[in-house]
Amino acid sequence: MPAPTAIVSEEVTVKQLNRADELAQVLSAIGGRAIDYLRAADVPGSHIGGGIPPEILRSQIESELELPEYGTGQEGLLRAVDTVLGNSIVTWHEGFMDKLYASTNSAGVAADLVLSMLNTNGYVYTVAPALTLVEKKTSKEYANLFGFKSRWAGGITLPGGSASNAHSIIVARSTLFPDTRENGNGSYKFVVFTSVHGHYSVEKAAISAGLGSSAVVTVPVDSDMRMRTDKLEQLILEAQEAGKTPLYVNATAGTTVYGSYDPFVEISAIAKKYRLWMHVDGSWGGNVVFSERLRVQKLNGVELADSVTANPHKMLGVPLTCSFLLAPDARVFRRASSLRAPYLFHDEDQNEVRQDFDLGDFTMGCGRRADALKLFLGWKWFGRAGYGERVELAFDTTAYFANKISSRKGFYLLSSNPPPCLQTCFYYSPRDEPLQNEAEYNTRCTRAIAKALHQSGRFLVDYAPPAEGDSVGKGEFFRAVVNAPSTTRMTVDELVDAIERLAAAMVETGVL
Ligand SMILES: Cc1ncc(COP(=O)(O)O)c(C=O)c1O
Repeated sequence: MPAPTAIVSEEVTVKQLNRADELAQVLSAIGGRAIDYLRAADVPGSHIGGGIPPEILRSQIESELELPEYGTGQEGLLRAVDTVLGNSIVTWHEGFMDKLYASTNSAGVAADLVLSMLNTNGYVYTVAPALTLVEKKTSKEYANLFGFKSRWAGGITLPGGSASNAHSIIVARSTLFPDTRENGNGSYKFVVFTSVHGHYSVEKAAISAGLGSSAVVTVPVDSDMRMRTDKLEQLILEAQEAGKTPLYVNATAGTTVYGSYDPFVEISAIAKKYRLWMHVDGSWGGNVVFSERLRVQKLNGVELADSVTANPHKMLGVPLTCSFLLAPDARVFRRASSLRAPYLFHDEDQNEVRQDFDLGDFTMGCGRRADALKLFLGWKWFGRAGYGERVELAFDTTAYFANKISSRKGFYLLSSNPPPCLQTCFYYSPRDEPLQNEAEYNTRCTRAIAKALHQSGRFLVDYAPPAEGDSVGKGEFFRAVVNAPSTTRMTVDELVDAIERLAAAMVETGVL
């Protein structure tokens, strides 16, 4: 067949686009910087970064923060990149034990690059063919790991654990009380239950769902920081007696501070008895699901939940953000939020199966990054078993940490031994006596030592106050997080030594 001839007016000068060469230059420059950055992080004794107060940092990088009238091109871009790299916390650093996430890895960087390159919007199949299938398949396999085995098991990605938890409340309300989809809360006074150690996103979700934060009733915990189901039942009955409608119970798999796992089987029995939606917030600790051993130990009964949040961007080192809302029957998502906006979702064939591939319609949003690819490629790289080993290694290092400080002078372990998840919570008192039992003294020690650790350039470790009604803890305590595979037993040894050394120096100078 002869090649079609383009009809081009003679006046038009056809300008050859030269985007590939330009991108090659930028990628090579950025790639080089990324490798240097990581190589520096891997050098023993390297600095973790940060620790400069905002007003000082602003004055140091003020000129770089200026936004120009005329573009500065690659040169300006690379200068700004250098400023950002040089003034950020190195999350690849072994001493980054501050939050419930750390760096990504090679598979993660590759996935993010592919997503940026494609710049695909994951709302409709037409513009996201392969990535829609990736999201559906990854969600299904992930849901299967949590014990959701029906043909409808699956899920969607949302921009973070808070967003997934928030969406689960909307789905619960629309499923159990379908009239609310059109009429809102009306005369219902819905109540949502979570433990006192549940994440604050549940309260935020209640605000955005129009229930109000006072609709969240916090359930006391036992001495292992797990939701007390006798109290849950009692609080449900009290809500009913007050003319309210118990709607939803959030059970947590890995609470934010202590890492405790609520008793899912017992909570499910109560949820079924009173017709509540049971959600499991596994944003942090849900990923033990990749280890057969830990899944059995920690997640017994999770398969009884109506929905589960799980965040690969926390324990698995998948790049931020990557969060899934999973369900035994993923059709609930479309029923809860579909509006089939005709300009976007074209229904000319009225085909239910086809509609199942327009994933934006399953959410309250519109445009969406195809975050599932990041877990998909990580899963390809590590395998289910590889992720399981990574999680088990982190649990082993945490047990080593807790054990090491459990009998060490000056340390007072608040977590159980071994801790339920990857956080080790403890006090350190530099005086010879053990814990002083004074809230003010404990808080002062914790804050001063945490600051000194950061100033040493070797560690970033966070702290927290006890929750309301906690039987253990007076004043703020350390919450050190083992992030695998960067935090090792040697990191833990160095941290314990550093705490003792820095605190002793502060006693000498009269700071403590
Ligand atoms: C138990 C729990 N749920 C939800 C979240 C919120 O997740 P995200 O930061 O992805 O919104 C966190 C964050 O640490 C968490 O610990």
